[in-house]
Amino acid sequence: MPQRSPGKDEPYLLVENVTKRFGSFHALRDVGLAALAGEFVCILGPSGCGKTTMLRVVAGLESHEAGRVVLAGRDVTGLPVSRRNVGIVFQSYALFPNLTASENVGYGLKSRNTARGARHDRVKELLRLVGLTGLGDVYPARLSGGQQQRVALARAMALSPRLLLLDEPLSALDAKVRVMLRGEIRALQRRLGVTTVMVTHDQEEALTMADRILVMHQGMVVQDGSPRDIYDAPATPFVASFIGAMNFISGGRRHPDGTVFLGSRSIRGESGPRIARGAEEAGEVTLAIRPEDVILAPNLTDGPDMWPGKTRRMEFRGGAYRVEVTLFVGGGERGIVADVSAETVRRLELREDMGLAVGLCPDRMHVYRAEPRTEGA
Ligand SMILES: Nc1ncnc2c1ncn2[C@@H]1O[C@H](COP(=O)(O)OP(=O)(O)OP(=O)(O)O)[C@@H](O)[C@H]1O
Ligand SMILES: [Mg+2]
Repeated sequence: MPQRSPGKDEPYLLVENVTKRFGSFHALRDVGLAALAGEFVCILGPSGCGKTTMLRVVAGLESHEAGRVVLAGRDVTGLPVSRRNVGIVFQSYALFPNLTASENVGYGLKSRNTARGARHDRVKELLRLVGLTGLGDVYPARLSGGQQQRVALARAMALSPRLLLLDEPLSALDAKVRVMLRGEIRALQRRLGVTTVMVTHDQEEALTMADRILVMHQGMVVQDGSPRDIYDAPATPFVASFIGAMNFISGGRRHPDGTVFLGSRSIRGESGPRIARGAEEAGEVTLAIRPEDVILAPNLTDGPDMWPGKTRRMEFRGGAYRVEVTLFVGGGERGIVADVSAETVRRLELREDMGLAVGLCPDRMHVYRAEPRTEGA
């Protein structure tokens, strides 16, 4: 079949309008994904949102009712996994227990009848790439979880796939190994330049590893952008609360001239708050602000966009504190949390149940259409 190389700005992997049902259950609803050559894309979302199903559609392991998958300029919809040239790593190590690390890595090469000498060299090189030199003769049962996932990664890379697909490859590992392997996988991926799609429900993993993140919720893609975009401009309250921590403050109001009010104070700032889609009309809105953008000050004269408040519980977190704060707005109260450095806590002599001023950085504020239940962080 003729193969056309995609242009520089053309996606190397393109998934378009894919719909997938399991019986009457809609697992994917008209989802899409585009990855440029060499890009590292993360699919992020809560359990059951359809991440694995999406990856399996890309791999050719799952049929789908509608939509198409294009890889390197060629429509591969309907082609089985064996003809897509993809490398896959699953959450559970899925190594052959009766084969050594080397034999696991070389398995695909052997079934392709690669000559013995070439196979040996390739396996040695792959084990070196994943930091397992010298462990080729060891059986999986004697390898740690992190080492087993390295073998799985080397095995996935053995046939120089066009696409690397990783389904929660780190989630079974302990925290330290996970963080180390994160960096290693990303460095290896960069060096080899292989286009990669990784599924995770761990926002920190996605933020630190991805060039681009696709956030999924209930079988749909709700946002697609760089980690900074997603963090700084979450499209919906769901994205805002799923990635990082977010305070939602109900009872804001958008006036017909566009100004946003909380109580009697308007929220202006230089660029003003970010108005999300759906909140363009005048009316009641929900304000959202991240805990690190909440400023605590000794008294109200310290600046504009300040509200009177009171500290509640203070949680020590090492270099910083998370402080629960009550905001007094109009006649009512709103509970929010602020993340402040230990230095600020010392400087302001912060303690629980202390009256103070609370600043909500207007340029870091998000405005969403009011939903029935949005209060709290
Ligand atoms: N073979 C199947 N038959 C029926 N339902 C399925 C099947 N595979 C997945 N589902 C359902 O489709 C939905 C999405 O599943 P999927 O495995 O893609 O979720 P996920 O985002 O990967 O979740 P997790 O983070 O828990 O792995 C779930 O509700 C799941 O129960
Ligand atoms: Mg899954």
